[in-house]
Amino acid sequence: MTHSPAVVTVGPLMPDLVAALEERYAARPLESLDSAAGSGAGVRVAVTTGRTGVRADTLDRLPDLGAVVHFGVGHDRTDLAALAARGVVASTTPDVLTDCVADTAVGLVIDVMRRLSAADRFVRRGEWARPGGGSYAFPLARRVSGARVGILGLGRIGKAVAARLEAFGCAVSYTGSGPQDGVDLPLVADLVELAREVDVLVLACALTDRTRGAVDTAVLDALGPDGFLVNVARGAVVDEAAMVAALEAGRLGGAGLDVFADEPHVPAALLERDDVVLLPHLASGTVETRAAMRDLVLANVASFLDDGRLVTPLG
Ligand code: 8YV
Repeated sequence: MTHSPAVVTVGPLMPDLVAALEERYAARPLESLDSAAGSGAGVRVAVTTGRTGVRADTLDRLPDLGAVVHFGVGHDRTDLAALAARGVVASTTPDVLTDCVADTAVGLVIDVMRRLSAADRFVRRGEWARPGGGSYAFPLARRVSGARVGILGLGRIGKAVAARLEAFGCAVSYTGSGPQDGVDLPLVADLVELAREVDVLVLACALTDRTRGAVDTAVLDALGPDGFLVNVARGAVVDEAAMVAALEAGRLGGAGLDVFADEPHVPAALLERDDVVLLPHLASGTVETRAAMRDLVLANVASFLDDGRLVTPLG
């Protein structure tokens, strides 16, 4: 039986993070370990992403695991209860990605309301220059400055989205698990009520039992034909079938989506629509932010192996 490394990777990770883990700890992918019981003995840290996570059955293979280190802030694919039951701690990469995710949310708000991606396609199709085309051929969009914005989940990212959109003169209100510290924004207790009051609803919450499927037909109908949905949280916060039905029936104005329930698969019905903006889960994907996330992951691994403490522990 080959000797297990102190660190394993679980799921795909950015190449220079993998290279650093290999160089420093001779890290190996979990799947490269012998699957026989106990073969993962000696592994102390599992490095994963919010998109892959560590499930309870993985823990059975790693009896000496002490920490799960996530690249990203999402941890909904990791079984935290199973970790806690075995005394395994977990970390994420908060703060370093807040600005880029908030920038992406604002980009989606502007794109979907002003129809920028749709207009780009209109130009590329040659429709602007077509006889009878011209400046009045592309439909009018909706104004972003001064719009009413609702945010589901006013954590670090939600607050950064709010600050940006307040600079656009938007009236921002929010809902979530309760009043948030350090903000002077109206809290609306009920998500349907919030959706009814705003022009655009931005999802910036964690995926939990409470938020899974929270954006359902009632919320979408409250947003209505002149309302827009923007999601930089997790796809499963939205009932995607209900969203497609609302778009197809003209009951929802449009959607800007960076995340989907079954990534990388996007509901086929959305691909043909001009009233949706579809991104491949790229919100934190800049050179600067991904490098900062990588460095924070490496700092968490080093700290845990050194003295058993994580730099950015969860909870
Ligand atoms: C990353 C994310 O794209 O932080 C998160 O939860 O979803 C993103 O920042 C992801 O973790 C990398 O796979």
